[in-house]
Amino acid sequence: MMKFNLISFVLCFSIVSLNIVAAQKKTINEKIDSVFRLMTLEEKIGQLNQYNDDWRATGPTTVDNDKVNQIRKGQVGSLLNSLGTERIKSWQNIAMESRLKIPLLFGQDVVHGYKTTFPIPLAEAASWDLEAMELSARIAAIEASAAGINWTFAPMVDITRDPRWGRVMEGAGEDTYLGSKIAYTRIKGFQGKKLGELNSLMACAKHFAAYGAAIGGRDYNSVDMSDRMLWETYLPPFKTAVDAGVATFMNAFNDINGVPATGNKYLQRDILKGKWAFKGFVVSDWGSIGEMVNHGNVKNDYEAALSAITAGSDMDMESRNYKNNLAKLVKDKKIPIALIDDAVKRILKKKFELGLFDDPFRYCNAEREQAALNNPDHPKVARAIAAKSIVLLKNQDQLLPLSKNTKTIAFIGPLVKSLRQNKGFWDVDVPGVDSNFIVSQWEGLQNKISGNTTLLYAKGCDIEGNNTEGFTEAVEIAKQSDVVILSIGERRDMSGEAKSRSNINIPGVQEDLLKVLLATGKPVVVLINAGRPLVFTTVNDAHAILYTWWLGSEAGNAIADVLFGDYNPSAKLPITFPLSVGQIPIYYNHFNTGRPAKNDNNHNYNSSYTDLSIYPKYEFGFGLSYTTFEYSDIHLSKKKMKINEKIEVSLTIANTGKYNGEEIVQLYIRDKVGSIIRPVKELKDFTKIKLNAGESKPIKFYIDKEKISFYNQKLQWQAEPGEFELMIGASSSDIRLRGEFELIR
Ligand code: BGC
Repeated sequence: MMKFNLISFVLCFSIVSLNIVAAQKKTINEKIDSVFRLMTLEEKIGQLNQYNDDWRATGPTTVDNDKVNQIRKGQVGSLLNSLGTERIKSWQNIAMESRLKIPLLFGQDVVHGYKTTFPIPLAEAASWDLEAMELSARIAAIEASAAGINWTFAPMVDITRDPRWGRVMEGAGEDTYLGSKIAYTRIKGFQGKKLGELNSLMACAKHFAAYGAAIGGRDYNSVDMSDRMLWETYLPPFKTAVDAGVATFMNAFNDINGVPATGNKYLQRDILKGKWAFKGFVVSDWGSIGEMVNHGNVKNDYEAALSAITAGSDMDMESRNYKNNLAKLVKDKKIPIALIDDAVKRILKKKFELGLFDDPFRYCNAEREQAALNNPDHPKVARAIAAKSIVLLKNQDQLLPLSKNTKTIAFIGPLVKSLRQNKGFWDVDVPGVDSNFIVSQWEGLQNKISGNTTLLYAKGCDIEGNNTEGFTEAVEIAKQSDVVILSIGERRDMSGEAKSRSNINIPGVQEDLLKVLLATGKPVVVLINAGRPLVFTTVNDAHAILYTWWLGSEAGNAIADVLFGDYNPSAKLPITFPLSVGQIPIYYNHFNTGRPAKNDNNHNYNSSYTDLSIYPKYEFGFGLSYTTFEYSDIHLSKKKMKINEKIEVSLTIANTGKYNGEEIVQLYIRDKVGSIIRPVKELKDFTKIKLNAGESKPIKFYIDKEKISFYNQKLQWQAEPGEFELMIGASSSDIRLRGEFELIR
């Protein structure tokens, strides 16, 4: 009896556990199907519908008192802009009252941090430090996911060559190679080991595609570009995003060559979901489905929904056009139900991968939220990457770093004591957290100086306007000081979405203030705070210039670290700084033209301006250090390569100055003759190397077919036999070593 019982128990137990294992082994498609087959058409359409909650509308929105009811009826798939576990939990609770209890996704623009604010993306890109950028995205994900969010609308991987465009602050700058590396890094950082880990966020590659090429730098404007330009310059970071396993894509507001991106079948179905086999889902940009009516591409909302779903837009952010029209489109036989089914399955898949079906509240643990938001390591990381993002543009007579024994410092300017400004455009108002949770520049300096230093302050002027009343006081304290630090620039909301500007000079009377300070004869260090490359005039005469962008919550400490040499600046510009707006678009990897200008003194029927230099103020890849680096001993393992071979390039970098430091060594290639003309140089590799004063190290690069391929006239990616020039330098103009090689058949 005893024996029988035991056997039956063992048998029974094994059957049960086999069942569990079988259940666990259900493939993701089986899991999706287990829900999908129960869904009505209305519930399916609901999954494609995303609403704004109540925070920061970046476009027109409908105050929808019926939102709760719609969620309860399973008519909403996702919310954006819900902040904090408490609020998110309450929405999810309502979703759990729906017939099929399909959990909501919670999306948010976690662009440069959640509670801990990191430098704006363009600033971080200046660090060229992929590890640091991955860590900053990781921490943003750790904080946001602990606060209930499971999807960030980042990274923006749009290439741009136009600093008038306000969203230049949100990307990685002008270069496709650097931009692709950064896209990969940020996606890995946000998504972590894999979706479904509690500290992972779904990333979103946006805005597909070519949004950064808006004509005239005016946000939301049309884009007109050749296929070659699209494939060569604007698409690669998106392709890299797919390779990095990005969970979602967002399409874009702009039309491209006359077709709105949101209704663009070529982009979304043929390229993204076809050629690139992207398995995630595509969300529209805010209201962009409805906006196709304004574009003049469709007659009404009904046609807009038809165009978007046909083109491959899976989720409708805020336009309500899917909700209002898809059922009718099916009924009218304008679209096969298969289009909706595919979109729904893509979205359900992500909900399964995130573990939301197992536990819809798994990202909503208030204790975990508190622990993540108060992790003392996060500000330390933010401080380190902020310091790595500061670009030293000028350092006359080695004014910097300042001595910690400086007796009196005048710290002047409208941005010295500001708090929120340092956070940049896409900061998040985290519930329960003071939005001024930030180290101001004033506080940063105070933290740094010793008891022997006196720090004087005057505001001097406002960021905008022409009031010069504060100049006298500023000059007064400058005269009493050994050195002046002047902090000027933009307001944080002067660059960002819908913040395009035709005048990108330093606003107001800030440069006039600098002029009167320079007239005192005191050495002046200028800090420029901005979300974009600004154009400056008097600033050129300052003794030292640090481009500090918007550095986030640890801005003040990071700036002080650089000013006093606790961090030796290493950043290099990820975008060209124009001399004047008239040069825009200006970028380093241009074509040579048939009549290249050789210098600014000769305008004899060559490609130049008769009234303006052809050279930028600061070139792509430029940035100084407190130390100096010498490049030597270039050696190419061979001078001729076949298509599947590699050339090893070795060289030595030496730190020849007094300070330990880091150098970003850049490798550029020029294909001398191409069936499609090749740029005068293209970044194809880089490395960031740390060297103590006096130290030198060998480094190696490899040249393979990837680095010399391009899209030919038939848009095939291939390398053409011929001669190539190799340039290795400290910037795109400061080429220190050269070599040549040939691709042979
Ligand atoms: C922006 C997107 C953003 C979305 C949600 C839009 O206006 O273009 O980049 O993710 O709003 O805030």
